[in-house]
Amino acid sequence: MTTAVYPGSFDPVHQGHLDIIERARQIFGRVVVGVLENPTKRYLFSADERVALLRASLGADSPVAVRSFQGLAVEFAAEEGASVIVRGLRAVSDLDNEFQMSLMNRRLNPAVHTVFLTTSFANVFLSSSLLKEVCAFGGRIDEMVPPPVAEALRERLATRAPAGR
Ligand code: PNS
Repeated sequence: MTTAVYPGSFDPVHQGHLDIIERARQIFGRVVVGVLENPTKRYLFSADERVALLRASLGADSPVAVRSFQGLAVEFAAEEGASVIVRGLRAVSDLDNEFQMSLMNRRLNPAVHTVFLTTSFANVFLSSSLLKEVCAFGGRIDEMVPPPVAEALRERLATRAPAGR
């Protein structure tokens, strides 16, 4: 059985991520989503919150495991017994960075292979940063994120909005 890890920031998870997770689940025997906890990066949601939002979005019956990790993605893959790192590709613009990361990961651990899944057409424009911006300015995000994430985003960004808004 091939185990695949899907590492990312997931700040927060959106429909594009869920699409990649579902397709990875159809291909690989076991899928573990890895939520990166990078102490040098500022996130809107803590690692525990991002894990909880992923679990709530996947549902209690999902066979997909979700864990947070620190450090290198290849080490997380090794800890999980995974030989595959899954990454989603939206557009050619993603490829430059993803190509570099996959080559570095291969250099770090040649036993771990990166597999790219192209995103579904409906999600090409989706990114966590754009969603946060749209939500912060009161735009509708409901079709782009699962309900628990829409609720959490509105709650978090409303509490951050300046008084009087
Ligand atoms: O969702 P993101 O922010 O595009 O995910 C990027 C992520 C988490 C996959 C990448 O930053 C990563 O793997 N970070 C862990 C540190 C690491 O392994 N760095 C070397 C890869 S070149």
